[in-house]
Amino acid sequence: MAGEMHYNDYLQLDKILNAQSPESIKQNLPAHDEMLFIVIHQTYELWFKQLHHEIDSILLIMKKPAMNDNSPELQTVVHRLNRMVIILRVLVHQIDVLETMTPMDFLDFRDMLRPASGFQSWQFKELEAKLGLKFEARHGHEYYISKLRAEQIEIIKKAESERSLLELLNAWLERMPLGPSYDKAAKGNFWDDYQDRYKNSLADVEKENLASFDEIFFGSSQKANDNPQRSLSPQACRAALFIMLYRGYPLLQLPFQLLNGLLEIDEQLSSWRYRHMNMVHRMIVSRIGTGGSSGKDYLKAAADRHYIFKEIAQLNSFLIERRRLPVLPAELEKRLGFVAS
Ligand code: HEM
Repeated sequence: MAGEMHYNDYLQLDKILNAQSPESIKQNLPAHDEMLFIVIHQTYELWFKQLHHEIDSILLIMKKPAMNDNSPELQTVVHRLNRMVIILRVLVHQIDVLETMTPMDFLDFRDMLRPASGFQSWQFKELEAKLGLKFEARHGHEYYISKLRAEQIEIIKKAESERSLLELLNAWLERMPLGPSYDKAAKGNFWDDYQDRYKNSLADVEKENLASFDEIFFGSSQKANDNPQRSLSPQACRAALFIMLYRGYPLLQLPFQLLNGLLEIDEQLSSWRYRHMNMVHRMIVSRIGTGGSSGKDYLKAAADRHYIFKEIAQLNSFLIERRRLPVLPAELEKRLGFVAS
């Protein structure tokens, strides 16, 4: 019927399904697997687009001067973060499909792509930047943008100049009103008590953890940006640890899911990096990538260094067993429960 929406038009399939032009066909040397190679990369880029859609909406909520933890906003953030995790899992598993292409199949068209490479995926690098990977933390610094076009570099630099999810997380944790206050002067405060219990839980060989405990939770640099090595301030770290320790209380459940979701994102990204790296090794072994880098060496260094939420992961070494946790004052316990109870 005229004017009626049609599946084909809604999805603009004429554009998408006509966007595969294998080089091997153009050069009259048809390589069967090039279609798979193109479709897989396009699929990745579409999922990257969706990941941007999700993270942009999360950043928008978290940028609000006072994100309301008692409103549906926090739930929306957690829900969309979880969606990002599930998409990343799909991206990890897509490598299974690509690995049905053998090194010989790849050789049939590999030289025809040179110097194009997934290394030029600006959407991937922009995503890393939005999550919180800073230029200073990148392996090889300037190298990661060396194969990009000027307009793509601009997109990534813009993302790097804006407040990342990691920075917004720091601000959110710093203003979290639910934890016990930290007043060094007050005797018997929660954090002194916790530190004592932590100390007693350490084996002799772990005693040096105490110095890190002091620096991380009570360090002199009270703001994260006083110390370029840190993204999370001592105040934010105390809030995050408190959330992890007492996540069973109703009001801490969503904050815990938020932290856990970020760790999952790092884990899935890391799984992707390692699977991609191993696949690359299998495909090209010690030859340089189509983008020109030392292939596996670059990918290994990037996989080892590019953890974005490592400071949250690190907090796990400061947990103690549940049965040794300080009992919370009744007033605080009440604040963490359901209002009706
Ligand atoms: C046969 C399959 C593949 C091979 C042999 C391969 C090879 C490589 C190599 C060697 C690098 C290092 C840079 C360079 O090119 O010199 C690289 C980077 C990269 N590739 Fe692939 N790749 C393959 C598939 C994919 C797929 C399907 C994607 C999905 C988008 C992808 C995305 C990336 C990304 C994002 C980087 C940069 C990683 C980072 O900076 O940490 N690659 N690839």
